[in-house]
Amino acid sequence: MKEIFERTSVRQYTQQPVERGKIEALLRAAMCAPSSGNERPWHFIVLERPEDFLPIMEISPHVEMLKQAKCAILVCADTTQKKYRFDFWPQDCSAATENLLIEAKHQGLGAVWCGIYPDEEKIAALRELYRFPDYVEVLAVVPVGYPAYERPVKDRFKAERVHIGSWERVLRPGSSYTAPEFAD
Ligand SMILES: Cc1cc2nc3c(=O)[nH]c(=O)nc-3n(C[C@H](O)[C@H](O)[C@H](O)COP(=O)(O)O)c2cc1C
Repeated sequence: MKEIFERTSVRQYTQQPVERGKIEALLRAAMCAPSSGNERPWHFIVLERPEDFLPIMEISPHVEMLKQAKCAILVCADTTQKKYRFDFWPQDCSAATENLLIEAKHQGLGAVWCGIYPDEEKIAALRELYRFPDYVEVLAVVPVGYPAYERPVKDRFKAERVHIGSWERVLRPGSSYTAPEFAD
């Protein structure tokens, strides 16, 4: 799937507004993600107006791109959906966020995952700003717009990150899985 290989974080956007149909496509893709026990704990706060999303810049120092964004989506989780002993909502919402980013690429949009969780102070500040209850967590904010630039696609495959059968049996840098050569 070419969108997976071509996706990169986009932090500069044109003035072109993002159509609601495209936002819906992002949300639909996000909600197709796998989740632990099929909990699907995600909720999405769609912020369409700059006056609604620019205040996030006062909460997180790494979201400068919101100044140019046409929309921002907060990826949240309802933790009352929890079925098991462990918290799986961060993984569930991460899978949803990645789906959303890939669909953004497919729709010709640019987006970037801006992390909020596990910073409790940021989560508390967002909870107050957007008035969601204590049992709701926030994984990330995703600014969205039409990309102002294209980045060349890079091959990120690293053979030396691939181990076959056990940790010691690792591929040699530059080799491949189909024609494996092993490091000494
Ligand atoms: C958990 C997480 C948190 C991130 N937080 C930020 C952020 O706050 N601001 C930002 O500009 N990018 C953020 N990023 C994007 C990464 O910087 C980016 O994915 C990484 O540099 C690789 O670049 P690429 O997405 O273009 O492949 C985050 C990514 C992840 C997965």
